[in-house]
Amino acid sequence: MKNSKKKRSGFVKGQSDFTQLPTKFVYLNNGTEGSMPVSVIKALNKNLKKWANDPTTSYETDPVLGKRQKKNRQAMAQFLGVQLNNVCLTDNTTMGLSMVMMGLNFKAEDKLIITNHEHPSITSPTWILKQKLGIQVEVRDFPQPAELSRMNADQLIDYLFPDIPELRNATALCISHTYNTTGVRLPLDKVKKRTDKLNIRYLIVDGAQGLGMVDMSKAGNRVDNCDFYAAPTHKWMNGPPGTGVLYIKNLQLCPPEFYPPLSQKMGAYMSGDEAHACIPMVEALTVRGCSMIPANVALTKLLKFFDKIGGQAKVEQHILGLSCTVRDYIASQSPDSLISPADNELQSGLVSFYPFNWEHPQKCFKDKDGVIAVVDKLLEEGVQVRYVPFPTVDFSDECKLQGHAPNLIRDCSGEPVEQTFAIRVSTGYFNTPEDVKLFMKTLKKVLTV
Ligand SMILES: Cc1ncc(COP(=O)(O)O)c(C=O)c1O
Repeated sequence: MKNSKKKRSGFVKGQSDFTQLPTKFVYLNNGTEGSMPVSVIKALNKNLKKWANDPTTSYETDPVLGKRQKKNRQAMAQFLGVQLNNVCLTDNTTMGLSMVMMGLNFKAEDKLIITNHEHPSITSPTWILKQKLGIQVEVRDFPQPAELSRMNADQLIDYLFPDIPELRNATALCISHTYNTTGVRLPLDKVKKRTDKLNIRYLIVDGAQGLGMVDMSKAGNRVDNCDFYAAPTHKWMNGPPGTGVLYIKNLQLCPPEFYPPLSQKMGAYMSGDEAHACIPMVEALTVRGCSMIPANVALTKLLKFFDKIGGQAKVEQHILGLSCTVRDYIASQSPDSLISPADNELQSGLVSFYPFNWEHPQKCFKDKDGVIAVVDKLLEEGVQVRYVPFPTVDFSDECKLQGHAPNLIRDCSGEPVEQTFAIRVSTGYFNTPEDVKLFMKTLKKVLTV
């Protein structure tokens, strides 16, 4: 992607700091990867050079670059409104979730609940637990898109997690804060209430599509609704690649309830020495060999960037404002193609819809080749969105009617399930109303066949 010479103009504070995003290109895929403001790129370069200049001192004793990372963890803890010893810096969401799911001392008789829309960062460790331990897995199906798009948060929580014997007293509920497929954001305070009512022991949340998109100080987004919350700082936060955060609620967490699976500190819990036995779990998970610490230092610059632009509430307002415009546009032309819900509480910075024929908007298409063709045509016109697959239950007849073979994936039971494909638009902080207008104009052109 070539950079244009013209300077990026800003619509809200700090947008012109995203100097590496080309100006004549509309990037609407923050849900996959973010860009970085210039202050973060500079801090990353500066700290890499500092490290290269004196590697051993940097790693062993430097107050900022040093291996325990207290300053970097403290800055992130403050951003999340939690304590230093609730926070471990990771490489990404997948690492955080894997640490949790491999760390908890699950037994064969335990039960995990997930939904059929979880990302592989949850389903993959779930499969391992099922294969290795024979753990029970209960998969809850989301409603079909037509029903989902009209639901409110309470209705959806009742649908997904009803008070039924299959869910009561489960060991863990593993879900996403925001679904990368449909853009549904679950209010975590309400989910927490439901897990308490169902007497589920752990609430484990995949925050890949949460942190940096929404205001984490709001009741429905707070990480302390969860026992564990794993998130990236390389997506909506727009931090360096290979950075992320894991929140752990229980400050006393230790073996045998939880064994640190990626750590050099298990010995501390076995020493019998009380001073060592109470080492915070986040610290045990931090001491895991050399990490990309210069990138974590650059994160502290990123948190200052958030302060400069007015804080998380401002960021959320901008992102959700733009996604509302996208949603309304799709709804006004082809209400049946819309997948993302209209309810304020469920809304996020992601909008998903099935592509459709502009002249005959009731004709949606959901097959892989058709959807990818639209994404590719948009890219040729200088607009980047992405396609997302997700499972459906009523696709096969429709597929057969259209002469397409259903696309199959495997769910947690190992059974093949059918999936449909949709277009997903992410409206990031760096996007402007002009970007969204250009997307809408280009979409109309591409779908007019
Ligand atoms: C819901 C969800 N979970 C997890 C991930 C993986 O994120 P990471 O690259 O931070 O591990 C993604 C990436 O798109 C995602 O959308």
